[in-house]
Parts: sequence; structure tokens; C-alpha cells
Amino acid sequence: MNSISPSWEAMYADEKFSWFWPPAYEPESDPAELASILSLLDAQPGARILDLACGRGWLTIPLALRGFQVTGLDLSAALLNRAKQAAGQAGTTIEWVRGDMRHLPGTWRDYFDFVTFTLSEFGCFSDQSENQQVLNEVARVLKGDGRFLLDIVVNRDGLVNQGNTINYLEGNGFFVVQEWSLDLLTGIHKRIFRWYDQGQLQETQWQIQTYTPPEVKQMFEQAGFQVLGAYSSLSGKALSRDSEGMTFLAQKMRIG
Ligand SMILES: C[S@@+](CC[C@H](N)C(=O)[O-])C[C@H]1O[C@@H](n2cnc3c(N)ncnc32)[C@H](O)[C@@H]1O
Repeated sequence: MNSISPSWEAMYADEKFSWFWPPAYEPESDPAELASILSLLDAQPGARILDLACGRGWLTIPLALRGFQVTGLDLSAALLNRAKQAAGQAGTTIEWVRGDMRHLPGTWRDYFDFVTFTLSEFGCFSDQSENQQVLNEVARVLKGDGRFLLDIVVNRDGLVNQGNTINYLEGNGFFVVQEWSLDLLTGIHKRIFRWYDQGQLQETQWQIQTYTPPEVKQMFEQAGFQVLGAYSSLSGKALSRDSEGMTFLAQKMRIG
């Protein structure tokens, strides 16, 4: 896969990197965040929703439990299998599709009322046109006036304000030191993770092309969207210069 960080997809599928993830799937693992997502979407019962890069189904399953017609798409077969298992336990009906966000199925033209893309590494492709292609594809599969909730884990403005940092992630059985840096010229944000596993120092890297909010707005417009709102996160709080990530609600413009 032509992403900036070739190893990250494997990292997500590997159980030992579960520290990247929000808590293991539970239908209401973060009720406040879920309530905020539902409020931002303002979707009517029965609406057709695509959860793009759905991973383990953190959002896909609660959406289905609320009566929406939900499709979850992800590139990782391992993560889709975990999502399917969790959906089965929750007793939901979801269409699961293994696919690439840059080339969504051709039959989906003007098909969905909403697309969600949460905790996204939007900017993960080293070729800028492929990041734009993701927005173009979402526009293609949405109906006219359909809405796209795009939540991006990084915001270049926030990273500039924060400066390069060394911090750590700690949890049940892990302690990982993270070194964050931002190349001010290219906007590439790099994270180096180091941890000990049975006495051996391990290291892995993750990197992403970062954007400022106006740059994302411009990319949305190029794909045929208008941006309805920009927030600091899925909480729906206002975007600020310190926001580590950024969340956008955009609407596909009708042609003609
Ligand atoms: C950080 S996870 C976000 C998962 C989920 N949206 C959530 O909120 O928990 C990123 C996801 O993107 C998926 N992914 C990476 N590249 C992809 C691609 N080209 N097409 C579709 N999914 C992809 C990964 O497999 C992973 O599930």
C-alpha cells in the first residue's frame, strides 16, 4: 500500500499495538462522544450510512443498533473479522466490505445519505492526489446534499503550537514512549514509538501528511463539498489553535 508509513496498517492489525486504539469495542464505549456524533449527523431513522475505514466497528455497530442501514468498509481483513464478531454479539445487521477508500465500489454512485470517517489518518498517502482522491470518492458515493463527517487525528496548527514533544502512552501492560516531530516545510508529522518487550528495546514509526483547517476546506471544495462546520474533535467543541485533531462536517453540493 502506498502510504507514507508502510508499517502502520500491519500495526493496527497486530494485537500488541492495541494501545493505538480506543478501548476495546463495547456498543456504548464512549456515550458522550457517540451522542455528539449523532447530534452532528442529525440523521433520520433508516438513513444509509457508510462508515469508512471502520476498523473494529467502534462506530459502525452503535449506528446499526440505532436503526440506520450501515455499511462498514475497511482494508484490513483482520479488523473486519473482529468487527463482524462484535456485530454478531451485539445482534446487528451490517454490510461489511473489504475495500480501499481510494477506490470505492463503482455501484455505490449517489448511494449513501451519510459517510463517517472517525479517528482517521487522513493524509496517510504519500501522494497528495491520493488524499484528495479519498474526498472525491466520498463525494461520488454520497447522494446530493449527503453529509460527510471527517474526523482527523492531527491538525497542523495544533502541532505547530505544541512543538516537538516526547510523551508516553501507558495502559494495561504497556508503557510506550512517543517522540513527536513536525517538519515545518513539508508538514509531515512523525511519531517514533519505543518500548521494551521481554528486555528488548522495540521501535516503530508512524507518519502522516498534516494539513491546516483551510487546506482541508480547500480539498473539500475541490471534491464538490461545502464545509458546514469545523470542530476540535468528535465532541463538537469549537476548533481552536491548540486542537490536536480536527473534525469537519461537509455537505455534497448538488449539481445544477
Ligand atoms: C485509526 S483506524 C480508525 C478506525 C475507525 N474509523 C475508528 O474510529 O475506530 C484507521 C483504519 O483505516 C483502515 N485503512 C487504512 N488504509 C485504508 C484504505 N486504503 N482503505 C480503507 N481502509 C483503510 C485501517 O485498516 C484502520 O482500520
